[in-house]
Amino acid sequence: MAKRVGVLTSGGDDPGMNAAIRAVVRAGLRNGCEMYVIFEGYKGLVENNIYKVDRSAVSEIISRGGTVLKSARLPEFKDINVRKKAIANLRKNKIDALVCIGGDGTYMGAMRLTEMGINCIGVPGTIDNDIASTDYTIGFDTCLNTIVECTDKIRDTTESHQRCSIVEVMGRRCGDLALFAGIAEGVDMIITPDHPISDEDIIENLKEWKKAGKKHVMMIVSENIYANIAAFAAQITKETGYECRAEVLGRIQRGGSPSAQDRVLAARLGAHAIDLIMEGKGGLCVGLINNKVVHYDINEALQLPRDKHMNLLRLIDLLK
Ligand code: F6P
Repeated sequence: MAKRVGVLTSGGDDPGMNAAIRAVVRAGLRNGCEMYVIFEGYKGLVENNIYKVDRSAVSEIISRGGTVLKSARLPEFKDINVRKKAIANLRKNKIDALVCIGGDGTYMGAMRLTEMGINCIGVPGTIDNDIASTDYTIGFDTCLNTIVECTDKIRDTTESHQRCSIVEVMGRRCGDLALFAGIAEGVDMIITPDHPISDEDIIENLKEWKKAGKKHVMMIVSENIYANIAAFAAQITKETGYECRAEVLGRIQRGGSPSAQDRVLAARLGAHAIDLIMEGKGGLCVGLINNKVVHYDINEALQLPRDKHMNLLRLIDLLK
């Protein structure tokens, strides 16, 4: 009997989610599955926002940012009674398996649903690159390129006005976006959760640079490090001689057409998710390690230590 497979996107959206949805739907149909989409992530499962689709439903979405299935965060999904409603709706639609595209919160939901009898496969879709079971998450590359494009522009005006700019980027608790963007930009300082620098040390460095005649300074910091980054910029202006501006890039980082790299990653991982479902597997998540498509048990994946990219951290000082 043909399998009936659903796909949803959950958590923060990212460029490449649509390419992943397309890959899952098309690969599923090719394997003889009936394919269903769930709108608004786990919320849509609970509210039975579920529709059968054919291949044309995912036409022309490969290059679009965001997620055509919409996304939602549903903290209540931790509650077993809420999940029971989701399971009841899946049973009502006779859906046997689910592909859940998102970050670690999405993986947690996928694991719980698998424990309750629906085979789920997690696909890493988040700009944050904070999932240890893959070298890169879908969306990270596009986001990085957006940050670099914006920071290039900020650099132009920073240089003209001989200022100091602090660019704050997303990443939740993960510093990869700041680290990779900082290296791509050749900035003077990168501050991330894995590479913290005290306010005192930053101020001291800036004073020394000013004394040595350095005209302008570019810094990249991860979000959630400064409670009030504008206040810190004001402190720098007051204490170092550099006129400092803070730039919080915000949600511009999550939008836009996915890069070729993110589209290819989405195609590879979406197709692998369907391979696993065809083998009757669940409770797994797919990823790319050393350019090979792999999968892990979700429980294991969530415990894996993240690569802190110490080899890249070294470049900050080396290339200054
Ligand atoms: O997880 C993706 C992400 O963009 C994080 O980098 C950021 O901390 C968070 O989502 C912001 O979420 P929201 O748009 O719901 O405020």
